[in-house]
Amino acid sequence: MSLPLPRSDRRRRPTPRSHRPPDNARRNATFQGGKDARRVGNIPPFPSKPPASARQSPAAAAAAHSRLASAARGAMQPDANSPSLRLARVAAHLNPQRPQMEEEGAPALRPAACRAKGGAPGFKVAILGAAGGIGQPLSMLMKMNPLVSVLHLYDVVNTPGVTADVSHMDTGAVVRGFLGAQQLDAALTGMDLVIIPAGLPRKPGMTRDDLFNKNAGIVRILCEGVARCCPDAIVNLISNPVNSTVPIAAEVFKKAGTYNPKRLLGVTTLDVVRANTFVAEVLGVNPRDVNVPVVGGHAGVTILPLLSQVTPPSSFTQEEIKYLTNRIQNGGTEVVEAKAGAGSATLSMAFAAAKFGDACLRAMRGEGGIVECSYVASQVTELPFFATKVRLGRGGAEEILLLGPLNEFERVGLEAAKKELSESIQKGIAFVNK
Ligand code: NAD
Ligand code: LMR
Repeated sequence: MSLPLPRSDRRRRPTPRSHRPPDNARRNATFQGGKDARRVGNIPPFPSKPPASARQSPAAAAAAHSRLASAARGAMQPDANSPSLRLARVAAHLNPQRPQMEEEGAPALRPAACRAKGGAPGFKVAILGAAGGIGQPLSMLMKMNPLVSVLHLYDVVNTPGVTADVSHMDTGAVVRGFLGAQQLDAALTGMDLVIIPAGLPRKPGMTRDDLFNKNAGIVRILCEGVARCCPDAIVNLISNPVNSTVPIAAEVFKKAGTYNPKRLLGVTTLDVVRANTFVAEVLGVNPRDVNVPVVGGHAGVTILPLLSQVTPPSSFTQEEIKYLTNRIQNGGTEVVEAKAGAGSATLSMAFAAAKFGDACLRAMRGEGGIVECSYVASQVTELPFFATKVRLGRGGAEEILLLGPLNEFERVGLEAAKKELSESIQKGIAFVNK
């Protein structure tokens, strides 16, 4: 994974800041402009002094802000340092708009326009559920990803704050926020990758399946949006119960006529992240040097770590195998209980989702040899969905890798996993077709 820290600005040429629009103003202006973004040439003349109203009236300040934005779009124009621009900047600063948020009723983004607004070439990524426990740190991590040029943050609550906050990070991706169902289509239009952590988390005593009634409907609505607005996007589905929400998404896409199984990926990376960590603890090595394939699904016994296939090759006692398998299968519950009613894993999940999202983006860019575990449409077993290692490519899950040789303990675990998985899959399919 490559998630570099924000690049420092300190070595830039020492132009006094008052002589040029702030970086964020230039960036925000670039993406705020909508259709106007390409009309950078003709900046109307500013009055030599700002009208008094610009300091008092929001409308006038907004007009000044808009003129500043137009001017800033042509930030390298010869008159960018003119006194009128400086005064307009002050006026806009005194009464700023919320430039990162989509205005209600604004026309939906067009795919072509969207990329042109990006700070750098790269992919357009949407996070649905961006204001939640996973969504917020995941938004931050994706803003740090150099492969992302445009980052759309959608939620039914609190996106203005999260968007304003994340948009101040001095990394290349342009951030735009979308609030509520009426802005879902604008959030999704033109996206290359859609990451979905929307939905309720568990409380102590609940299973992931207990979330089905609430989260199934949320996932259906969001996937209907994906089918309408970015049918070619790769979808990373995090919302639980993943064993059922991925089949739900597949049925939604089938009904819409947009289903491509390669592009629908259930995120099970947290199981691998946990397995690497716990195995590394037992072996006394750095978790970064360990890779444990985890197959099956993402709930209880369906989470099947293949300890016989750990790299680097390692051997474990029976006691270690039982301890590790149990801890990996119950890692989510360990966090739910420790949080004591305040939710489930969010930070480690955001880390895992950012890692998986980065792998998808690198593969979409054409990088070869990227293999990650994911819960996908599969023929590796008799079940229609199963998590195994998959080779990621430009189109998503390009190749589903086989399970490889299993030991007796793993074969028994596989049968238990398949039994529970089968029910969860059927439940998801039935939900959409009832
Ligand atoms: P959270 O409650 O903190 O955040 C969920 C967010 O989803 C909230 O901001 C909420 O407003 C938003 N939301 C609800 N309905 C929405 C809708 N219709 N459209 C858009 N956004 C909507 O929960 P969390 O801790 O972030 O967990 C989110 C989901 O991820 C849960 O279902 C949880 O079980 C799951 N999860 C999965 C894994 C995994 O490994 N796949 C790991 C951890 C958590
Ligand atoms: C996890 O594995 O942490 C998530 O699936 C959340 C949960 O409910 O355990």
